[in-house]
Amino acid sequence: MYGLINEAMRRHVVENAGPAAWSSIALRAETSQTFAALHYYDDSVTYALVGAASEVLDAPAEDLLRGFGHYWSTRVGPESYGDILGATGTDVASVLRNLDEMHARLQSLYPELRPPSFDVVETGEDGLDVHYRSERAGLVPFVVGLLEGLGDLYGTPAAVTHDAVASDGTDHEVFHVRLTASGAP
Ligand code: HEM
Repeated sequence: MYGLINEAMRRHVVENAGPAAWSSIALRAETSQTFAALHYYDDSVTYALVGAASEVLDAPAEDLLRGFGHYWSTRVGPESYGDILGATGTDVASVLRNLDEMHARLQSLYPELRPPSFDVVETGEDGLDVHYRSERAGLVPFVVGLLEGLGDLYGTPAAVTHDAVASDGTDHEVFHVRLTASGAP
């Protein structure tokens, strides 16, 4: 994946566990300490970082991926990509509905991009079924964190569960998202 993903992971770890923890993680993963945002790194680099972080921080990889997804939606997205996120939508449903187009637009800046795909089906007033397709394995907890983070970002906290489905002939994951009003002013 593009270096900006690995860089965001570095920032997340440094903020939560400090720079020494990140140094140990990069050493253990046998990667560089920093990454160039516009350079394409093999996916194995990202997976090695997650595996090493799990060992160094003594936490399940699933929990780290979920936390990183939340961090991406609430911090990296709004702080580093506020313009594109703002143009994508103004609440959880509209952002998700326009996400494929948003990732596709990034293709001009990131020609090697291999983005996931999201289809959204509304299930009642505050429910969404989010169908996620990716050529990559193991990123379900990351998507859960991304969805929970979007809920918090837009003031509608999200309860997220998920199932693997093959109903329309393609194996993919569906996330059931229930949004609640946060009571925020
Ligand atoms: C806010 C701005 C965003 C930017 C700039 C962005 C950009 C990117 C980039 C560069 C990648 C790496 C793909 C590659 O290198 O081949 C990626 C992957 C991914 N993005 Fe986004 N993204 C954004 C928001 C989101 C949001 C809000 C979601 C979901 C709710 C999302 C879901 C994903 C997922 C799940 C992946 C992992 C790749 C996979 O599943 O195969 N992204 N994104």
